[in-house]
This record gives sequence, C-alpha cells and structure tokens, in this order.
Amino acid sequence: MNLLKAGCRVAPVRGIIENSFQFKTDKLKKTVFGLDFHNPVGLGAGFDKNALYLNELAALGFGFIEIGTVTPKPQAGNEKPRLFRLPDDNALINRMGFNNDGVTTIKKRLEKHNATPSTRNQTPNPKLLIGGNIGKNKTTPNEDAWKDYSICFNELFDCVDYFVVNVSSPNTPGLRELQEKDALKKILSHLQNTNRGKAVPKPLLLKIAPDLTQSQLDDIVDLAFETELSGLVATNTTISRAQLSEKSTVKSQKIGAGGLSGMPVRERSTEVVSYLAKQTQGRIPIIASGGIFTGGDAQEKLDAGASLVQVWTGFVYEGPGIVKNICRQLAAD
Ligand SMILES: Cc1cc2nc3c(=O)[nH]c(=O)nc-3n(C[C@H](O)[C@H](O)[C@H](O)COP(=O)(O)O)c2cc1C
Repeated sequence: MNLLKAGCRVAPVRGIIENSFQFKTDKLKKTVFGLDFHNPVGLGAGFDKNALYLNELAALGFGFIEIGTVTPKPQAGNEKPRLFRLPDDNALINRMGFNNDGVTTIKKRLEKHNATPSTRNQTPNPKLLIGGNIGKNKTTPNEDAWKDYSICFNELFDCVDYFVVNVSSPNTPGLRELQEKDALKKILSHLQNTNRGKAVPKPLLLKIAPDLTQSQLDDIVDLAFETELSGLVATNTTISRAQLSEKSTVKSQKIGAGGLSGMPVRERSTEVVSYLAKQTQGRIPIIASGGIFTGGDAQEKLDAGASLVQVWTGFVYEGPGIVKNICRQLAAD
C-alpha cells in the first residue's frame, strides 16, 4: 500500500495505475439508498481502518470504500500475530480486535481528504463514496455500547456518505451479543433519532455475522423495518471452521480464535443474503460481503438479492486487478 501511495503521488504514474486497474463503463452505475455508485464493487471494512489510503484505493477502481471499524478512543487491538493466511482454502483468519487510531484522528484525515478537490472530484470516479463502519471500544461495557456508536456517528457524520453499525466482529469479547434484539434496538434507535434530527439524514446500515440462526435473522429483519434501516451488510467473518479442508483445519487449530473469511464463507454468506432478500421482499438493500473473488462470485451475490458487493480476502489473493476483473465480467453478463 505504501508503494501504491508513493506511485499515486506522481501524476503520470497515477494515470498509468488508473488506466491499468479501472474499468470504465456507465453500464454498472447504480443508485442505492440514495447514493450514486459508479460501480457496485466496494472494499469491505477493516482494510483501510484508519482512512489512510482512500486516494490510492480509488485509483484501483473501487466503487466505494468502507473505513473502520472506528471506535471512539484509539486502541491497539490484539497481540500479534493476529492475521493468518490459509492459502489452500483461499482464506484468512484474523483476530485484529478493532485496532484503529480512534474517531478524532480519523475524522481529521477524512476532512482533509474531502477538502482536496483532486481527490473528491476525479474522473471517471467523480466521487469516491465512503462508508463509516463504527464500533465500540473493548473496554466499554455492552450496556454502554450505544454511547460509543453515538460518539462515532456524530463525529463522522459530515465526513462519510453512509454508516454501518458493526456488531458482528468475533474479535471484541461480547460484541456479537449486541446482535440480540433488545440490545440492537437500543443502539439503532439512538442513532436514528440523531439521524432524523439532521438536515439530510445519512443511510444507516447494519452488518451481521454469518453465524446467526434463522430466528436471529428474522429478528434482524423485524428490527431493520422497525428502525427504518437503509440497508444490511451480510456478512462479516465466521467463527465456524466447518468449511475448511483437512489441511487448513489442522492449521486453523494451531492458529486459534479469530474470524474466518474468504472462500469458506462464500456459500453461507450467499445463503444469508438470499434469506434476507426474501424476508425483506427486496425492500431493504443488501451489501454482500463474503468470499467474493471473481465476477461469478459477485454475480452469485447479486442474483441472491444483493444490490452491491464488497471484497476483502479476494483483494488479498487476487491482487489489485480484482475490481476491474469483477466489473468486466459483470458488464459482460
Ligand atoms: C484482517 C481483517 C480485518 C477485518 N476488519 C473488519 C472490521 O474492522 N470491521 C468489519 O466490519 N469487518 C471487518 N472485516 C470483515 C470484512 O469486512 C468482510 O466482511 C469479511 O472478511 C468477509 O469478506 P471476505 O470473505 O471478502 O473477506 C475484516 C476482515 C479481515 C480479513
């Protein structure tokens, strides 16, 4: 990423990078929850946690980028090593633990990015859409979690285009308990009350785990309607190891706890997207995340009812050409 950053500082090099990695077409333009996406392929949360590489990621053609997870206070995250490859299965296991610079620093960075016309008004990427993925600090007890989400929401309000409430990371102890209906209702209601008080409210989405049961998914759907969410992000990483090959299973046992991403989560993510799309009758847009490497994988998620897709593990394994490759295949279909 630092090499890419250095390259993008030199205008002709940036031009070469953009020409090599961007796929230019009007065919993939899409308006979802009131935002105009120049293509439906985004970068999932957790890659640019600190909003350090927005310009460079834009050069690679992403239709949108989700920064964070951002917490109110900076935090170091878990001890290293905390990120592992399982190349036999095109997968990763991570237990990062929301390492980030904290909302104040990240806000300043976003303000600077947004104030620079050359980064905010590029062609063919007229405006890079930025999602703000928000969470709670490790030390904040769950009963006070809503306050952390509110702090991040208020601080980032003017700097991002949409918000994602992350209650589905397996790497902050107890976080996923916030997916339970009452806990979640408290967080989302507070945020929506603030949101409705703004001149122009921002789309608010919820990111969920692939490990939820059907009845938990039903609760999420009820709540999404009740709190008038703009969308759902499905899914985060899984704590299940059931889809791993024998070799990766052995390796994963040595690695220990963490969220599994990539190919092994693809099928379950699609299943969740499909279930949510059916239960919401397509009335709540879904951003699909989980095991997307190719145009075929992206199309599978769109066919299941998603409006947009995000890559993460696929970006690691496929490299910087992933957006172009996916867009080319989607445009050809
Ligand atoms: C190293 C790593 C860090 C991540 N950090 C976050 C995070 O901070 N917040 C979040 O909502 N998701 C996070 N994710 C989850 C991804 O955004 C994505 O939802 C998940 O990995 C499934 O997509 P994939 O199979 O394409 O990787 C992280 C994933 C990885 C691999």
